[in-house]
Amino acid sequence: MKVRSNHPIICSKSTFAALLAVLCCIGLAILSQGCHAQAAPPFNRPYLTWQGDPCTTMTVTFQTAAVPKTVALRYDTASHAGKPDAYSGKVAGVSHQIEGLADKRSINSAELTGLKPGTRYYFAFQGENGEFSREYQFETIANDERMIRFVDGGDVGEFPSVPGLFKSAAAQNPAFVEIGGDIAYEGGNLDEYATVDAWLDLWTNAMTAPDGRLIPLVAVIGNHEVNHGSGTKEQRAPFYYGYYPQGGKSYFVRDFGPNLRFIALDSDHTVSHADQAGWLKEQLQAPAGKHRVASYHVPLFPSHREFSGGDSEAGRRLWMPLFDEFHVGLCLEHHDHTFKRSKAMRGGEPDPAGTVYLGDGCMGQDPREVDTSRFYIEKAAQLRNYWVVDVTPDKVSCRAIGEDGKVFDECSAN
Ligand SMILES: [Fe+2]
Repeated sequence: MKVRSNHPIICSKSTFAALLAVLCCIGLAILSQGCHAQAAPPFNRPYLTWQGDPCTTMTVTFQTAAVPKTVALRYDTASHAGKPDAYSGKVAGVSHQIEGLADKRSINSAELTGLKPGTRYYFAFQGENGEFSREYQFETIANDERMIRFVDGGDVGEFPSVPGLFKSAAAQNPAFVEIGGDIAYEGGNLDEYATVDAWLDLWTNAMTAPDGRLIPLVAVIGNHEVNHGSGTKEQRAPFYYGYYPQGGKSYFVRDFGPNLRFIALDSDHTVSHADQAGWLKEQLQAPAGKHRVASYHVPLFPSHREFSGGDSEAGRRLWMPLFDEFHVGLCLEHHDHTFKRSKAMRGGEPDPAGTVYLGDGCMGQDPREVDTSRFYIEKAAQLRNYWVVDVTPDKVSCRAIGEDGKVFDECSAN
């Protein structure tokens, strides 16, 4: 016989304990999902990358829940806030979806070409519902002797330290921010799209320069962009290739005016060191770029992991001779979650005329212990940090900035 209580609010001790246990389980489940479980997808929020010349092009990407009927972008060198028809430039974009991504979102991009170097542009884009967005701004890179400033950081994720580091980096007013791999930590896993959403939420919230322009992203691939599948490189790193249009490759060169040739490399995540060596040599043989800077994920001169690590060894064997031969002054390294500045190195030995290797990717992740006894390390510490790099015709100056926003190390590259 069932007995119905007339006092539903009053529970027995055992019922109360069971209820408490259920609530605890729900709470723990929410906590175990991390903060990204709460983040709404950053739809209709633009972010910038380059697929071509940073002096004359810009790619604007925004995501929408469904595929828009049209992807259109209006732009001009003058502001026309609220008046889409007033912009002189119009460009149609493209949409694509990532196969297997559960929410079937649309990734929409428009590449603007033929732009004037060193020029501020204003733009608005037509989103999913056909309405135009509010106005945003970007600036092309000047193709002259003006200083180029950029930020390098890596191993970011969506950790509690990231908003402060991103805010501090944006306040440096960099022309671009380069993330040297291990961007969101979704592991190339399509089921982990909320992790990438949380990272994009942090990025789009923070990466506006003090003067109102959006700061472009240069994304370098790391091991945590890649799953362990055996498909194409796009299937192995679906978010890296699918979300950040950079010409469809994980290794590329960008000339930021006459003084900086920036070379992004893939430290064997989707392309082997050997398969990039011939291409790297061609890029370094070309007369472009008074200063050459390379960036990749796995350090040739690690501060935490073993010196004998396979990808570190491959980089020293296949890339380092090219860095030496063609006088690459600065290499940006990541992956070890530390602060590191190497001695100037040439032929694998300290040499004042050699390459400085900076790292080691700790713009959000928990910092790791360092081994300062290694022959190539000038300075290293267990600290979160990012680097600000200023490139002028005469020199490449680097400053390390900590979580407190203060400079704690400085150096110049050759
Ligand atoms: Fe890594």
